Amino acid sequence: MEKFGVKILGTGSYVPEKILTNADLEKIVQTSDEWITTRTGIKERHITDEKTATSDLAVEAAKRALKDAGMDKDELDAIIVATITSDMAFPSTACFVQKALDAKKAFAFDVSAACSGFIYGLAVAKSFIETGQYKNILLIGAETLTKITDWTDRSTCVLFGDGAGAMVLSRSDKENNILSVYLGSDGSYDKLLYQPAGGSRNPASEETLKNKMHCIKMEGKEVFKVAVTKMREAADIALEMAGKKREDLALLIPHQANLRIIEAIGKRMELPEEKVFINVHKYGNMSSATTIIAFDEARKSGRAKAGDLVELIAFGGGFTWGAVLFKL
Ligand code: ACO
Repeated sequence: MEKFGVKILGTGSYVPEKILTNADLEKIVQTSDEWITTRTGIKERHITDEKTATSDLAVEAAKRALKDAGMDKDELDAIIVATITSDMAFPSTACFVQKALDAKKAFAFDVSAACSGFIYGLAVAKSFIETGQYKNILLIGAETLTKITDWTDRSTCVLFGDGAGAMVLSRSDKENNILSVYLGSDGSYDKLLYQPAGGSRNPASEETLKNKMHCIKMEGKEVFKVAVTKMREAADIALEMAGKKREDLALLIPHQANLRIIEAIGKRMELPEEKVFINVHKYGNMSSATTIIAFDEARKSGRAKAGDLVELIAFGGGFTWGAVLFKL
């Protein structure tokens, strides 16, 4: 089969206006700005109001990415949304986005891979485009994690935020911006990071509500260890797949869950500080929205420029992990 190049035409991101600071959290649970800052690097996060759902954030990010790409919504062949906080179990959040954009030609579906979701979605979009099956794809990472946060659990409620990021990808005969994608999963870690109720295993009931089983449960210490190992491995594998070396990288954009995780990976990869992108202090962990929002910020601020080799790496519930290497 003929192979085409995949070009990034545009990116965009959107976070809700309302900001929850560490000082605000001090009034909700027994915590302190000092604890949150030293353990996580997070200073504030953006949170949605009661009326706003994940697709609302996704649509705003999508509009910005389409504008950046100079593409009309009617040119879209597909809309893919990576999320674990969909508006409803069904229809998919991507279908709500398609409706809001009135992108009638596009088919739409969601991808579920927690914090690695955007990279999983990118792998799918890349395959659609490079095989010549479809031409223009809108890929979104969007989450409202604060809707499934237990605001009485200080070990998790300080970590998460809401947001959405989007990318418009298109077929190219001349250029190729995606050099390699690597994905991994290990379902045996299911109980270290999960949302136990609301699905067919534990459908919503008075008991699940009472026990806050619709909220995120996490064994932070264990997640931390595997996250560092797997993201570092993924980063090296995607580089190797493309015949590149760590020192060729202009910028590494790791999933932004915790500053200590990011710094540990940078150190293990022997990268200078200025080559590791950080914005976790502003947003906390936005799961699948995190890497694309960081990528959008890196692009728009000039940290990631045309010709640069840029790598995204992520890790999340499942466990899932992945890496993608871009040549911009
Ligand atoms: N404020 C004050 N104290 C706290 C808080 C808080 N917010 N949270 C926990 N503590 C206390 C604990 O109760 C514990 O007290 P104890 O020693 O008296 O028992 C102490 O602080 C240390 O707790 P630990 O859990 O050992 O703290 P740790 O240094 O491991 O940091 C953290 C916790 C920040 C959660 C860290 O483990 C982490 O970031 N893990 C990774 C999370 C991650 O990467 N998730 C990514 C995927 S998310 C997704 O897929 C949706």
